[in-house]
Amino acid sequence: MRVAMIGTGYVGLVSGACFADFGHHVACVDKDDAKIDALKRGAIPIYEPGLGEIVSTNLREGRLSFATDLANAVRDADAVFIAVGTPSRRGDGHADLSFVYAAAREIAAALNGFTVVITKSTVPVGTGDEVERIIREVNPHADVAVVSNPEFLREGAAIRDFKHPDRIVIGTEDERAKEVMAALYRPLYLNSAPILYTNRRAAELTKYAANAFLATKITFINEIAELCEKVGADVQEVARGIGLDNRIGSKFLHPGPGYGGSCFPKDTVALIKTAHDHDVSLRIVEAVVAVNDARKRAMARKVAAALGGSVRGRTIAVLGLTFKPNTDDMREAPAIALITALQDLGARVRAFDPVGIEQAKQILSDVVYADGPYECADTADALVIVTEWEQFRALDLETLKRVMARPVIIDLRNIYRQDELARHGFTYMGIGRGSGQQPASVEAAASLAPAS
Ligand SMILES: NC(=O)c1ccc[n+]([C@@H]2O[C@H](COP(=O)([O-])OP(=O)(O)OC[C@H]3O[C@@H](n4cnc5c(N)ncnc54)[C@H](O)[C@@H]3O)[C@@H](O)[C@H]2O)c1
Repeated sequence: MRVAMIGTGYVGLVSGACFADFGHHVACVDKDDAKIDALKRGAIPIYEPGLGEIVSTNLREGRLSFATDLANAVRDADAVFIAVGTPSRRGDGHADLSFVYAAAREIAAALNGFTVVITKSTVPVGTGDEVERIIREVNPHADVAVVSNPEFLREGAAIRDFKHPDRIVIGTEDERAKEVMAALYRPLYLNSAPILYTNRRAAELTKYAANAFLATKITFINEIAELCEKVGADVQEVARGIGLDNRIGSKFLHPGPGYGGSCFPKDTVALIKTAHDHDVSLRIVEAVVAVNDARKRAMARKVAAALGGSVRGRTIAVLGLTFKPNTDDMREAPAIALITALQDLGARVRAFDPVGIEQAKQILSDVVYADGPYECADTADALVIVTEWEQFRALDLETLKRVMARPVIIDLRNIYRQDELARHGFTYMGIGRGSGQQPASVEAAASLAPAS
């Protein structure tokens, strides 16, 4: 199959490279000249483990190419994927579809012979109808089928997720399009990844429903963690206790500083907007968004509490800036809200991240960036672990204690054990770990328990 991938960001580049690895001929197109120049030289513009190898192999073997000329790539293609960004629209939180529609117009003008146009970007329900309308308006004679094929890969594990998906969702009722999609994904369903055919609208909504559900799960355990802190329970134990129930499942039950990233924050808000447009209110998702927003800034108050109530004039070392490990993506990272809130409270912030510092510099101001975790902790009054990069999991506690002004660790990912840190003389605060710290008054807490 000949494929054109429009948009060469986290999703387009990974998908394009993986389709080439399956044996298809893929032209990756982007309007960003610098990105395409870099890719032609074999430089990967994002941090994604394993991606560089797949790109260079397929470039060398002639199945993958990069271009800024969309028309040329589309003219030859059997399948054209739209994988451009759909950020939050400024002002109202709706998905900004201007990039999708602009791409659709350009694609329409270049179509040649039967072509399947596939929206891989996350787009609100009904967008496929509008993409089809645009194409027919620009090119009334186009022989085209417009399909929805949302992407579920996770940054940091994107290659694995693309090659071993839990499912492939394909929204189309066009038989010719189904054949093309089946040929594209054949290597995957030979490995028994189920393909779910739905209508286009169901496929579009499935992506938002999945992200909203996952965001809900994270937010749920974060609220339970707060209760754990008040009642003397350990949220890790509670999460394990509920996660072993197959109806619940153990994934996405890790408490933390609130979800961030390039998808959950914008997709939950866009889903709420879509629902409002259809006179439906998704009150659970609305609560999730509100709770998560409040939580991100509340983490700064947690840091202040660990220092006796104030961070004014204190130096706070922040380990981890990206929204999760193994990516350089800083979009909506919890570190942003935490650091700005700490600065608002009068703290000086020093930070280290293994790959995210360049991206962070474009978003945060007045932060001093360190070359490593110990340099970051040097003379700090507290150390906050925000992103659970592997290299933060086994820090040399003796060195840390020696270089810090005060041995205080706030672990927003629960990667350390309270008793271990206490043994090394640290004041330690995790998330939802009430068991080591009895509630202020056990009798008072007990008196609140309902009589059985
Ligand atoms: N990042 C993720 O983990 C993830 C996962 C699943 C789905 N998605 C969805 O996939 C879509 C893309 O996300 P991303 O993170 O890859 O975005 P991104 O911002 O990293 O990349 C988008 C790319 O599209 C290019 N572009 C925009 N308009 C173009 C046009 N007309 N022609 C050619 N190129 C154009 C931009 O220059 C940019 O390089 C979004 O809808 C997102 O919600 C993202």
